[in-house]
Amino acid sequence: MKNEELIKEAIRARENAIATYSDFRVGSVVVTRSGKVFTGCNVENSTYGLTMCAERVAIFKALSEGEREFTKIAVAADTPQPCYPCGACRQIIWDFAPDAEIICANLHGQIEVFRAGDLIPHAFGANNLDHKKEVNHE
Ligand code: THU
Repeated sequence: MKNEELIKEAIRARENAIATYSDFRVGSVVVTRSGKVFTGCNVENSTYGLTMCAERVAIFKALSEGEREFTKIAVAADTPQPCYPCGACRQIIWDFAPDAEIICANLHGQIEVFRAGDLIPHAFGANNLDHKKEVNHE
């Protein structure tokens, strides 16, 4: 799928956003290595803090369907610049989709493409936990 089509899908997914408290609607799409597409939107609730971002909804949907390799992630919202993933989503992208292209968009046709490593430099990741395995002889 071309980036423009992915962004359209993300904007469509955004229609389902549950943005009761922020009124900030976000849509996202992930593409798997095998070409499957999963969409997500942000889901807010009354406690605010349990809010789930569109990107994580899309990634978790795909993971829960057994997908493990991702080539692209698109995110779109009504922002003056392209909508960039929040810090929590950057961590999840780094952990589960480190090689994916991250396509940030807004509703006005502005697009920026990033790599996970650019969005979360000096990231904490699975390799930081390796030394524990050695200590425990696992
Ligand atoms: N949000 C996302 O869904 N993705 C982002 O990358 C940024 C923030 C959501 C969370 C919350 O529902 C609303 O946007 C305002 O922060």
